[in-house]
Formats: sequence, structure tokens, C-alpha cells
Amino acid sequence: MDRLTLFTLFLLSLLSSAVVSTVTAKDVNGGEDDLLIRQVVSGGDDPLLNAEHHFSSFKQKFGKAYATQEEHDYRFDVFKANLRRAKRHQKLDPNAVHGVTKFSDLTPGEFRRKFLGLKRLRLPTDAQKAPILPTNDLPTDFDWRDHGAVTEVKNQGSCGSCWSFSTTGALEGAHFLATGELVSLSEQQLVDCDHVCDPEEAGSCDAGCNGGLMTNAYEYTLKAGGLQREEDYPYTGTDRGPCKFDKTKIAASVSNFSVVSLDEDQIAANLVKNGPLSIGINAVFMQTYIGGVSCPYICGRHLDHGVLLVGYGAAGYSQIRFKEKPYWIIKNSWGQNWGEDGYYKICRGHNVCGVDSMVSTVAALSTKHT
Ligand SMILES: *[C@@H]1O[C@H](CO)[C@@H](O)[C@H](O)[C@H]1NC(C)=O
Repeated sequence: MDRLTLFTLFLLSLLSSAVVSTVTAKDVNGGEDDLLIRQVVSGGDDPLLNAEHHFSSFKQKFGKAYATQEEHDYRFDVFKANLRRAKRHQKLDPNAVHGVTKFSDLTPGEFRRKFLGLKRLRLPTDAQKAPILPTNDLPTDFDWRDHGAVTEVKNQGSCGSCWSFSTTGALEGAHFLATGELVSLSEQQLVDCDHVCDPEEAGSCDAGCNGGLMTNAYEYTLKAGGLQREEDYPYTGTDRGPCKFDKTKIAASVSNFSVVSLDEDQIAANLVKNGPLSIGINAVFMQTYIGGVSCPYICGRHLDHGVLLVGYGAAGYSQIRFKEKPYWIIKNSWGQNWGEDGYYKICRGHNVCGVDSMVSTVAALSTKHT
């Protein structure tokens, strides 16, 4: 057992008597099977009770089929390990609901390789810094979805291209602010054509399904002239094709971009003023996340996933330790059948899971393209 596991167990033993789960089934939409699945983690002591039943509901719900009996049996073992993990996550993160998700037949390593894709751990130090903004008049709640600046939730599939979705999401919002038009932009253009490297760190070039960085992608977009529409350059989820960028079909262009300071009020002020922000996050709790405000007692700050910050809310939940704490609203790129219709909520105020450590903002040219 490694040190972290030991520490986790120690903490769990301390917490298990003190923590009262506030999670109820009505917090989340779902059918009877979902309810059953949730009881796996919120109910009794043995998460493996009825594991077989949960596995068959899981296979049915997410259309899973395995080529061989061997593969099936292996995936069932992984699934059982993930039931135990979901149960642990539930204890460490009692305000969120954790349970069976479409990623429940993947090991943490497979999950990281296939569904994340943030290349490196810190922001380039040479990047332009966002000016400090006033923070006294910030609204208590804010959500860019209510202002028409956010496109539908997309799905990166089994490809480490999260960085390209975070980038398009930010530019879609900036373009909306600059032109009044919401246009869905092409991730595939970034996956195929953007190989920009960060000069500060070897091996940190944007690399399609093998990861990338949002600030590199802004740099590419600035130099290339812009991004095409989603429908003109649709997502394939592979990085084996050639670059098919057509300069005559540019739909949105970058004017400039900058990194935002780690201060949470500055992050909120930049969000409200400039539109949705690209951020990095540690995604370990996201593999089992079903809904609610995630606020784990322990979460690494090693960033491995790029997502889009679209808003924040004031205290919308109560819990012993983080009572009355506000939260961030995050758009993810794992389809609408993950999390809260594709979204994740994480508590604000503690840089939980590194959510404040890599934030960048982009401004779009106000040119309307037809
Ligand atoms: C970035 O671009 C926007 C829009 O063109 C402009 O208003 C703003 O001043 C620029 N910011 C910087 C720091 O250059």
C-alpha cells in the first residue's frame, strides 16, 4: 500500500463516524436501475452486494458489449473494483453523488489515457497575464448558459483531446461576446492541425488524442487565422487523418489570450467579463461522479483534464465542513450522459482538485464570418 492509500484509509476511519451523507436519490434523475446502482454506494456496507445485477444494468444502459468471455470477466472485475472506489469516493466527497458511470468498466489508468488529455502541469510563465479586474460588483450567481454563450455538451470519445474542447468552448464564448453569434467550433481542426509546442518544456506539444494544452491551442488558432465551424470540420475522435484546414472557411478568430491569476475573485471577474474560461482540473473524482457539488476532503492538485468554466453559484447545498460554500459550474466533454447533463459542479474557495491553478481567457476578433 502506498502512503496516500494509507493516509486515505486513516482519514476515512476518522471521518466515517462524523460524516453524514446528505445525498438522496431524488437529487439526480434516473430510473429504477439507477436507484439500485446508487444504493450500492450510499446504502449498505458491502458495495459488492448485487454486483452482477449492477453490471448487467450498466451494460444495458451504456450499450456495452465485450468481444470474448475472457474480456467480459476481466471487465466485471474492473467494474467491481470501481464499485468499491465509488463507495470510497462517496465517503470522501459526501455532497456529490458517486456511483456507476459509463466509465465504470475502465481502470483508472485506462480512464486517464483515453478520456483526459491535458498535457502538462503548469501554465507557461511567458504567457501574457490578464489585467487585474475590479471584483466588488460581481453577481452572487452567474451562468453563461443563461446568456447564450455556451454550445451543447460535446463528446471527446475515447481520445485524449479534452484540451481541444476546452479551447473551442472558450473561443465559442468569446466569439459570442464579440459578435452576438453562437457558433459551434471545430475540435478536429485542433486535433489534426495544431502541433504547437511549449518552448519551456520538452514533449509538451499539442498531440491530438495524446493530449495538449489550451494556451498552445490559442497560439495555434491565432497564427492559423481562426477555427472552422464544427459542421464544416466535424469531430472524428481520431488523430490519424491529415490536416484539412480550409482558410476560406474560418468562423471565429483569436484576438489575444492571457492567463488569469490564481485568485478566485479574479477568476470570477474574468469569467463574467470575458466569457467562459479554459481551466485544468484533476479528474480523479470525475470517473465516478453522478451529480451534486463535488468537494472531496482529499484531491490531488496534479492537473490532468482540460474543461470549461461557465459559471458559479452561491451556497446551494449544506454540509458539515463546507457549509454555505459556493461552487463552480464546469462544462465537460464526455457527452450529456455523464454528470449533470454533461456538467460538473465543484466547490469554490479551496483550489479543490487544482481547479484554480490553470485558468486562461481568450478574446475573439469581432469580425463576422459568413
Ligand atoms: C484583447 O482583444 C480584445 C478584443 O480585440 C481587446 O479589446 C483587448 O484590449 C485585448 N487585450 C489585450 C491585453 O491586448
